[in-house]
Amino acid sequence: MQPVTEDNITELAVQRWATAGDPRLAELMTALVRHLHDFAREVRLTEAEWMAAVQWLTATGQISTDKREEFILASDVLGLSMLVVQMNHRLDPRATPATVLGPFHIEGSPELGYAEDMSDGLEGVPLYLHGTLRDLEGNPVPNAVLDVWQADTEGAYESQIPDIDEARLRAKYTTREDGSYCVRTIAPLGYAIPMDGPVGNLISRTEISYFRPAHIHFLINVPGFEPLITHLFQEGSDYLDSDVVFGTKQELVTAFEEREPGPTPDGGTIEVPWLESTYDFVLQRQG
Ligand code: BEZ
Ligand code: FE
Repeated sequence: MQPVTEDNITELAVQRWATAGDPRLAELMTALVRHLHDFAREVRLTEAEWMAAVQWLTATGQISTDKREEFILASDVLGLSMLVVQMNHRLDPRATPATVLGPFHIEGSPELGYAEDMSDGLEGVPLYLHGTLRDLEGNPVPNAVLDVWQADTEGAYESQIPDIDEARLRAKYTTREDGSYCVRTIAPLGYAIPMDGPVGNLISRTEISYFRPAHIHFLINVPGFEPLITHLFQEGSDYLDSDVVFGTKQELVTAFEEREPGPTPDGGTIEVPWLESTYDFVLQRQG
């Protein structure tokens, strides 16, 4: 029997995990073992600290549901999600940059027409967000679906509201022949990430600001193009420089201009003051 010592345990564990049939799994697991052991050695991890970490992971799993993604939140606040996004989306600088998906996207949003209202009577300042979807050469990308979601003026996403049975502040808009789109909604506000779980508990023991700047999420997946998951952030919003999930980028900041009651971008009229923002998304072709 080979004696297991403090000095050889890492190599023994690496050898075991190197037997994974899938070479990529073997690469991932052996590197993970090495880094975990290095971490434990570097900080001289105590048994109490190891147990606290296990309990934190257990609590993170226990609070997670199909609507609450506490592990994604953990990854986001550690900066891991954004690192993975940056490494995997090294796009042309002319293309709209990607940012984190976040834990609140819901599949199957209703399809709305140009400038149809996804806020459906919810309280808030009306916002028309419109522009075009183009490729790097400036050609319009027609018939593309923009999957859009956002929080309400209290900072709540649909998935955080119990017993809701219809889509709330989320919709799919399709670009027209000239690549144009128009989202009609209410202006989002900055909000706190969920602080009532293990992630919030950990953050509350630091000086970290747990807010996100006002933003709207977009998922644009068009065949032949790099998929784009991104947000648009309101210019001048609080927390642009301290986003708790590291998701902001200057290219994604857009002005929400104040408008008087009157004509709207879809040729209609509105009787209350509203906000207008124009933004052209640029997709990069695959390959
Ligand atoms: C969001 O913007 O929806 C979000 C992203 C990451 C963590 C929490 C919320
Ligand atoms: Fe969000």
